[in-house]
Amino acid sequence: MPTTAFIYTTSENSIEKGHVTWESPSNIALVKYWGKKENQIPANPSISFTLSNCKTITTLSYKKLPNPSDEYQFEVFLEGNKQDDFKPKINIFFKRIEQYVPFIKEYAFKIETSNTFPHSSGIASSASGMSALALCVMSIEKELNPNITATDFTNKASFLARLGSGSACRSLEGDIVCWGAHKEINGTSDLFGVKYPHKVHENFKNYQDTILLVDKGEKQVSSTVGHNLMHKHPYAENRFKQAHDNLSKLIQVFKTGNLKSFIEIVESEALTLHAMMMTSLPYFVLMKPNTLEIINKIWTFRETSGLHLCFTLDAGANVHLLYPENEKQQVLDFINSQLVGYCQNAHYICDNVGFGAKLISN
Ligand code: PMV
Repeated sequence: MPTTAFIYTTSENSIEKGHVTWESPSNIALVKYWGKKENQIPANPSISFTLSNCKTITTLSYKKLPNPSDEYQFEVFLEGNKQDDFKPKINIFFKRIEQYVPFIKEYAFKIETSNTFPHSSGIASSASGMSALALCVMSIEKELNPNITATDFTNKASFLARLGSGSACRSLEGDIVCWGAHKEINGTSDLFGVKYPHKVHENFKNYQDTILLVDKGEKQVSSTVGHNLMHKHPYAENRFKQAHDNLSKLIQVFKTGNLKSFIEIVESEALTLHAMMMTSLPYFVLMKPNTLEIINKIWTFRETSGLHLCFTLDAGANVHLLYPENEKQQVLDFINSQLVGYCQNAHYICDNVGFGAKLISN
């Protein structure tokens, strides 16, 4: 599908003002997106579990300007407080999406946003935040053009979210979403995320994700910088091929419910992501000593308990513990007895697989 298919052209209606609220969750990648081409096109396909409890709630209020403006007119509030330091990122987002939703120049916006997780928890709010904002913008498009189909609405919202933050395009639906063309997964595209279309075994229903907050500080290296370091990276080509192969293997794993293979793929993906960081030039390390302590404890626990707990990492030091729902009690006991000491202020967040964004009010 060409990107021109996403350009808004018709205007059935004219709207003076209104407001809309969406909530959108975070997601955790199983096969990681790391490396991109121009215009936020991923260097390899990725797949994620959509989360349920970690989400952003955004209200977009809009009022028509007497004349279209040269600059984007908006104010942004986080938990009720004016947040001018969010403005540059939103400006870049508006600039990238303007050709697809040109009406954004015709309105003054108030963006009010809040997260269900603490802002300084090291949990990236860009996936949930950018997807919630993209959905709000699409709700305006739907007011202007009520004939848009539900599928076109979701695909375009994901397309816009991708331009804000790549992984945000995987947050709109659930419970498993792929982004990036893969030859064995029908309907996949580099332009937007799609719900995983093939069979998923019962073992993965309501899969649990407990996030251990090892380091709540700002990351020393942003993911934008990290992605760019995959250009001229000595291992890039093999890594991109590995992601395709791991996705092919996951199709089988989802079909058969083979948790042993699932663990192997997911942990290898997490460590490969960080290996790419450590072998970039300049190189960098986002794991902390406690990240490694936790990983070692997980491996010992798995060996002795025979349970199916595994870990994954995003671009930071926090550890996501993934496990089937029927092992929840034993894993929580293990976390409380052996892992909580490695978390900053003993802080961890319990989440599970969810079903995507929701319209709260319109
Ligand atoms: O969406 P970005 O640009 O913040 O990149 C996210 C990259 C990872 O979280 C490390 C991997 C992924 O696929 O989500």
